[in-house]
Amino acid sequence: MTRNTPILRVENITKSFGGNPILKGVNLSLNKGEIKILVGPSGGGKSTFLQCMNCLISPDSGKFWLEEKPVDIFSKKELYRYRQQVGMIFQDFNLFDHLTAMDNVTLALRKVKKMDKKAASTRAMIELSQVGLDDKTKLYPAELSGGQKQRVAIARALAMDPKVLLLDEPTSALDPDLTGEVIDVIRNLAKKGMTMVMATHQISLIRTLADEILFMEAGTVVEQGSPKGLLVPGTRSQGFCDKLNSLSGEGI
Ligand SMILES: Nc1ncnc2c1ncn2[C@@H]1O[C@H](COP(=O)(O)OP(=O)(O)OP(=O)(O)O)[C@@H](O)[C@H]1O
Ligand SMILES: [Mg+2]
Repeated sequence: MTRNTPILRVENITKSFGGNPILKGVNLSLNKGEIKILVGPSGGGKSTFLQCMNCLISPDSGKFWLEEKPVDIFSKKELYRYRQQVGMIFQDFNLFDHLTAMDNVTLALRKVKKMDKKAASTRAMIELSQVGLDDKTKLYPAELSGGQKQRVAIARALAMDPKVLLLDEPTSALDPDLTGEVIDVIRNLAKKGMTMVMATHQISLIRTLADEILFMEAGTVVEQGSPKGLLVPGTRSQGFCDKLNSLSGEGI
């Protein structure tokens, strides 16, 4: 497998809710180490698409390939294996409130990867250290800041050794002074070559991390290209970033 072999490919994903078409045939092909960023107006289908890619929401139709092998997402066994390899980070962290940071990370290692307690704790410690939380392992989510909670969620996803990480607005629920620490972790992941698809309104991430931007509107990708190609006057993507810019005061 080379850098140019798609690690994840989805084709013609459709999804309707209550008869309303929300995704109208979305495609995405992701090479190893590539980062694709979804942008676009609220309600355009970014979260639905990410959740369909992770099969948290079952798409109405669509084809999936992982490392070029077709995945039958309607087969329980294949779906179970597929979902272990495609990690997901949510805007609101989705941690278990009754478990410590450590136990949030070890849970899937023990239940899904069948690791014993010691091996799971060792692995969890490595991941929690990577995101700068070695001294917070015994704390519960209620005792952590938003940025720390999101870093636990990232450690939990990474502990499963995903081939691809899907991130849905990972910094949107955070106070501005806490976004930096999560952005740093994401930048670090990018440096290490993690393959990612991320919906974000963070201009600095869009501009500097995206190999490709996908502008989604009304359930379809209406623009797709590199930041250099798309972030030029007259494109929808540039217009969208200009709007974000005027809200945040950030430069692009
Ligand atoms: N479970 C659901 N039931 C019914 N409609 C839904 C459901 N989930 C999403 N939708 C609808 O699908 C459309 C797309 O929503 P989605 O959350 O995917 O958009 P988005 O691009 O992520 O928006 P935002 O930028 O606000 O996060 C919206 O009109 C939303 O109301
Ligand atoms: Mg969304």
